[in-house]
Amino acid sequence: MQLRRLQNFRQLYKYLHTSEMSVEESKKKAAFAAVDNHVKPNQIVGVGSGSTIVYAVQRLAAREKEEGLNIRCVPTSFQARQLILDAGLNLSDLERESQIDITIDGCDESDVNLTLIKGGGGCLTQEKIVAANSREFVVIADYRKNSASLGEQWKYVPIEVVPFAWKQVKSKIEQELGGEAKLRMAKAKAGPVVTDNSMFLLDWYMGDQARDWFTVNQRIVTIPGVLETGLFVNMAQKAYFGLENGTVLEKAKPV
Ligand code: 5RP
Repeated sequence: MQLRRLQNFRQLYKYLHTSEMSVEESKKKAAFAAVDNHVKPNQIVGVGSGSTIVYAVQRLAAREKEEGLNIRCVPTSFQARQLILDAGLNLSDLERESQIDITIDGCDESDVNLTLIKGGGGCLTQEKIVAANSREFVVIADYRKNSASLGEQWKYVPIEVVPFAWKQVKSKIEQELGGEAKLRMAKAKAGPVVTDNSMFLLDWYMGDQARDWFTVNQRIVTIPGVLETGLFVNMAQKAYFGLENGTVLEKAKPV
């Protein structure tokens, strides 16, 4: 009996460990493919946030060393800034670069139109600004993020709000759009998560109904107190998804 329990435990551990490894591997493959296919010498590159972008920065640093790419990188968060500095890449910003050539960033979920939910890591506002000022916006993700429609796998839309107004925004969203908007709480600090912009986050659990995401986004951003939403509609041109079988799926925004 004891022995069987031990074997089951080992199997479970092996299963969890293996699937975790393949998720990381798929992130890396997607990130490397995007950097190799899109980034050219002397470009201004927007650098996204999250765990997948770490691999893209690794690849940018390797290419900088091998080819002398001479790129300048614009970060989308405190984390991205540190990644750029630690990798020895040239750090720039939006004041110096009026136009970014290409931005590469992760997502929490993408639908068939490459409409995205972003902001799982809480950096959505700066990510959206950098992407909106880029000629090309390319998404990198593992296979879990590739959906037919939003909400299939990721259940909430992050919304960055002015702390002063969080309760009013929460009520407005719930009354007008349904679902539940929860204040994101910190894990290693008492109280809510505070973003890079000193704001709060509402995670809006939007439910299962089909929605017109363009209209939903428009409605939420007009609520006083909302800084930005994690809905990226009509922004990404291309997505790279690392698949479980080790290949990379390239998806272009339908015309
Ligand atoms: C952070 C983001 C990230 O890009 C998104 O959460 C994906 O993260 P990961 O690469 O860790 O899956 O929007 O605000």
